[in-house]
Amino acid sequence: MTKIRAAITGVGGYVPDYVLTNQELETMVETSDEWITTRTGIKERRILKGENQGVSVLGINAVKEMIEKTKIDPKEIDLLIFATVTADMTFPATANIVATAVGAVNAFSYDISAACSGFLFALTTGASFIESGMYKKVVVVGGDKMSAIMDYTDRTTCIIFGDGAGCVLLEPTVEDVGIMDSILKSDGAGESYLHMKAGGSRKPASHETINARQHYVYQEGSAVYKFAVTNMADVSAQIAERNNLTSGNIAWLVPHQANKRIIDATASRIGITEDKILMNIDRYGNTTAGTIPLLLWDYEKKLKKGDNLLLAAFGGGFTWGAVYVKWAYNTK
Ligand SMILES: CC(C)(COP(=O)(O)OP(=O)(O)OC[C@H]1O[C@@H](n2cnc3c(N)ncnc32)[C@H](O)[C@@H]1OP(=O)(O)O)[C@@H](O)C(=O)NCCC(=O)NCCS
Repeated sequence: MTKIRAAITGVGGYVPDYVLTNQELETMVETSDEWITTRTGIKERRILKGENQGVSVLGINAVKEMIEKTKIDPKEIDLLIFATVTADMTFPATANIVATAVGAVNAFSYDISAACSGFLFALTTGASFIESGMYKKVVVVGGDKMSAIMDYTDRTTCIIFGDGAGCVLLEPTVEDVGIMDSILKSDGAGESYLHMKAGGSRKPASHETINARQHYVYQEGSAVYKFAVTNMADVSAQIAERNNLTSGNIAWLVPHQANKRIIDATASRIGITEDKILMNIDRYGNTTAGTIPLLLWDYEKKLKKGDNLLLAAFGGGFTWGAVYVKWAYNTK
């Protein structure tokens, strides 16, 4: 029987207009452009400003752009998955809000929470629905409004994150392209190093939690860094090995944009040179579930049919993973 694969057949993205530069951060916390640039590779990030503007705004704009570019009828979308840790509300799912806003009236939709690995988890989940023959059009969105959970008095964390979202359309193909393989991992022991202390059911919001500034990202940066470097590189090497991917036949490494030094470590582990790494961390910082689809959106024109892409991520949970994608189209 011919194998049905899930091909990425369209991409959309959106970043808000407001640019938060390292220079502006210098006026907010004790830091310097030089420190941020050398430790992370980030120069600026985008921030979604304004009242009542949730992550759905980012997702809606990204999906609308994809629909416009691919000219699909939104009524044909079967399923929309939104990977995010900054949902508009605890419930309903942000995916529901996005699906309705873009006219995907026949889709069912739900959120996935896997922090910076969220897009890879959602992509693999969406692909399985296509591969099984169950659905024909699945939209996978990854995005976060990290500024909503950022403590702009904590210099170790606020310099890293930004807001943005990207999405892909998945459709069936019998060609030898699409989502070829994936390895996904999680380890709940990572909880202590990267989490938000309050606002969930364990510790609901109260005057005390607000006074203790517990509604922001808590991160032990150097511990997270050590786990990220090892795990993202390990899983990338593993997926490369079992698919005979080498520095010679990988067209692009598409790494989660958390820290340029973590990306460099992953690239060197699989022998990838700088010219084959997609990067936009300097402009957007870490947009959590948004980084990988935003890279595909930013560099769509460079990607050619048949290109081998290695997507890799690491994030809170801990969660991490790598996905091997064979690109399915050329952009005119
Ligand atoms: C956060 C991170 C950039 C910090 O870099 P680092 O090299 O580990 O720095 P450290 O935390 O060891 O701190 C080194 C020094 O810089 C200081 N420092 C921290 N943030 C600073 C800032 N923004 N500006 C200036 N100095 C800063 C620290 O206070 C510390 O000072 P000390 O030596 O006097 O105590 C880095 O650990 C990192 O990227 N971690 C992974 C984060 C990540 O990927 N998170 C998302 C999950 S996907």
